[in-house]
Formats: sequence, C-alpha cells, structure tokens
Amino acid sequence: MMMKMSKLILVSVALVWCLGEVVQGFTYDDKELETEQGKMAMFERWRSHHQMEEINEQKKNAQYNNFKNTLKLVHSTNKANKSYKLELNRFAGMNLEELQQHTGFKSPPGDCPKKQDEAKANRDGQPFMFRNFTDIPPKLDWRTKNAVGPVKNQQGCGSCYAFAGVEAVEGLHAVKNKQLVELSPKELVDCANVGGCNGGYFTACYEYIAKHGGLTTMKNYPYVPKVEPCNLQKEKDIAVEVHGYENMPSPGIEEDMYKVVANQPLACCMEWNENVSAYKEGIFDGDCGPKIQHAISVVGYDQTADGQKYWIIKNSWGEGWGEKGYMRLARDTGGEGRCKIAHWCAYPTLEDTGTKHKDEDIIVKGQKDL
Ligand SMILES: *[C@@H]1O[C@H](CO)[C@@H](O)[C@H](O)[C@H]1NC(C)=O
Ligand SMILES: *[C@@H]1O[C@H](CO)[C@@H](O)[C@H](O)[C@H]1NC(C)=O
Ligand SMILES: *[C@@H]1O[C@H](CO)[C@@H](O)[C@H](O)[C@H]1NC(C)=O
Repeated sequence: MMMKMSKLILVSVALVWCLGEVVQGFTYDDKELETEQGKMAMFERWRSHHQMEEINEQKKNAQYNNFKNTLKLVHSTNKANKSYKLELNRFAGMNLEELQQHTGFKSPPGDCPKKQDEAKANRDGQPFMFRNFTDIPPKLDWRTKNAVGPVKNQQGCGSCYAFAGVEAVEGLHAVKNKQLVELSPKELVDCANVGGCNGGYFTACYEYIAKHGGLTTMKNYPYVPKVEPCNLQKEKDIAVEVHGYENMPSPGIEEDMYKVVANQPLACCMEWNENVSAYKEGIFDGDCGPKIQHAISVVGYDQTADGQKYWIIKNSWGEGWGEKGYMRLARDTGGEGRCKIAHWCAYPTLEDTGTKHKDEDIIVKGQKDL
C-alpha cells in the first residue's frame, strides 16, 4: 500500500516536471519588498520555483530588471481593491519582446474585418447564420459539456492564432458529433503557410483546413514551439474536416458573441499587455490595451454570486497561467467589450459531420446536457 502511494506520488511529480508546468502559484511576503536584498532573494526564489534554466550574468540582470517591473505591477494591482489578482508567474522576468512571442495575432490586410456595412451581413456579404438566433441561455460552459480539450501551450512561438482556430474547430466537432478529438496547431504552423511563429489570424487557418480537406490530431502531429518543414505524411492523416467559416458582423458587439457561443466555441482576437500576462485569478476588468495582438477562444459565459458577468476565455499558455489556463474576462461592458474581445471573432462551419478520425483519437465521447 505504502509502496503504491509513493509510486503514485513519484509519477505525479514526474508528470508535472515533464509538462514543465508549475501549477502552484508563487507567493511572497511584503517585507521582502523593503530592501534590494530582499527583492534579489525573492527573484532567486522565483527562479527556482519556476525551474528557470541557468543563464549568464548579463541575461540574469536583464531578467531581474524585468522581474522588478512586474513585481511593481503585481504588487500595486493586488493592493488595490480589484476584482482580479495578478501574480509572478513564469512570464514575470520577460521583456516586452519575449512576452509578445507568446501572443501572435496579426490582422488580415484591411483590418479585421473590413468595416463595410455589416450590420446585416458578415465580412463576405453573407448573412450571419446565427443572426436570428434567440435561444441564448443565461449561462453556458462548454467545458462541462465535453466540448473543450486540455489547455495547450504555444510557448515562445507567436502561434496563438493557430491555437484559437484549433480550439474552435475542436469545439464545433464536439458539438456536432459528441466526440472530443484533440487537433494539431502544429500542422497549421508548419503546413498552412499562414504565419508560422510570426503571428497570423484564425480565418486563414479555417481556410487552410477547408481547402486541405481537414486537420490531423495533436497526437499524430505534436507541438513544438518552432516552424519546421511540413510533415506531408502526417498532414495527410486527416481527423476532422471544416467546410467553411463565418465572421461575426463588424464592428463586433458582445450581443453577437452570445449568438455564436450559444452554438459553438468561438475564436476571437483581443488586446494584450503585461496585465494579461500576469493575470492570476478573478474577473479581469483591467486595462489590456493599446493593441489587439492576441487570439484566444471563448468557451462560455457566466456571472459570480454577486453579479459580476464574465466570458470564459481559454488561453494557450498552459495550465500554469491564470485559472488553470483560463481567464474570466468582464463581459457586457459596452462598445467592443473589455479588451476589445468582440472586435473580430470568427467560427468554422460544417455542412455534415466532417469526421474522419479513428475511434482511439476520441478523448471524450458523448456530451452532457445536450
Ligand atoms: C472593494 O470593492 C468591492 C466591490 O467593488 C466593494 O463592495 C468593497 O466595499 C470594496 N472594499 C474596500 C475596502 O474598498
Ligand atoms: C433573419 O430573419 C430575417 C427576417 O425574418 C430574414 O430575412 C433573414 O433571412 C434571417 N436571417 C438568417 C441568417 O436566417
Ligand atoms: C494594467 O492595468 C492597470 C489598471 O487597469 C493600468 O493602470 C495599467 O496601465 C495597465 N497596463 C500595464 C501595461 O500594466
């Protein structure tokens, strides 16, 4: 019995180690802030907490300076009475450029999307298929319906757009077929020629998947944070199809997000700054501008017991970020929404089931509450 327990613990420790995820948050004592020595000791403690690799003196000094800036932001934010908290996660020692390598949304030419008269139509002049949809539940969480896979980690490759797109495709497939299959952002990074690690947009991913005939699984084409030559063999092993996509009408409004999210998970772009990288928990209603440069998926919405409304945002920064990889973002805030979440959203479409995968690729079969 004892033997089994310790084995189990060893296995779990090894697992956490393997994934490079530190799920436990880093905490500090206010006293540590009083002296430079205290801050330096905190920095070292933070480095070992996040299992940071050894780096040379010069790099370490730069990291320490970034760390102190993040510490200031985290400390002042958490002292203020806000509905969210920040923390010193593994991004805390990064400079702006390094942080931005973990985002990677770029608008398509002519902005996202073109601001034509789209009150009635989407970007392509087609009717918005959910335009007249009114059956919007007061709250919804696709995670509880087995339509959302494990949290992924794009790491230092500007491929958020591919992850956001893949999440929406996984979601659509799960909703339509009651089977959750984890799909491959790496195929998009390597094969789709839509931005690689240098940023892109999710509709180009849907387009590639539709043209190519589908997308393979994560298991078949696993992720590493770099662009490599397309593996044509793996690319051929199609698991799930997409037949097209639609943009939400523009300029985006949160009312339209409900219409889509009530039907399937949705990919959106959003503003990003250091506040987002340092997010720990709570309803984020902070400032995240000035620039739209990240892409995520929206997998539901709800409100707290005291009535703070939020979107459930799935990020691609691993489970160690935010609330196990998710953010609760304030919703119904007017205009294009908090962090301009409604600015541009788009979702894949399917005419029939579009499934081609093998049974063993299904990570969750069947859905609850449908
Ligand atoms: C903190 O904010 C909440 C909600 O806005 C408010 O109800 C509470 O009174 C505030 N507390 C303090 C100490 O300011
Ligand atoms: C929405 O309803 C209007 C009025 O009934 C109709 O003309 C339009 O085609 C509908 N749009 C969609 C996308 O179903
Ligand atoms: C973070 O959020 C705070 C509070 O909303 C804001 O004052 C600050 O400018 C934001 N930006 C950055 C880069 O931290």
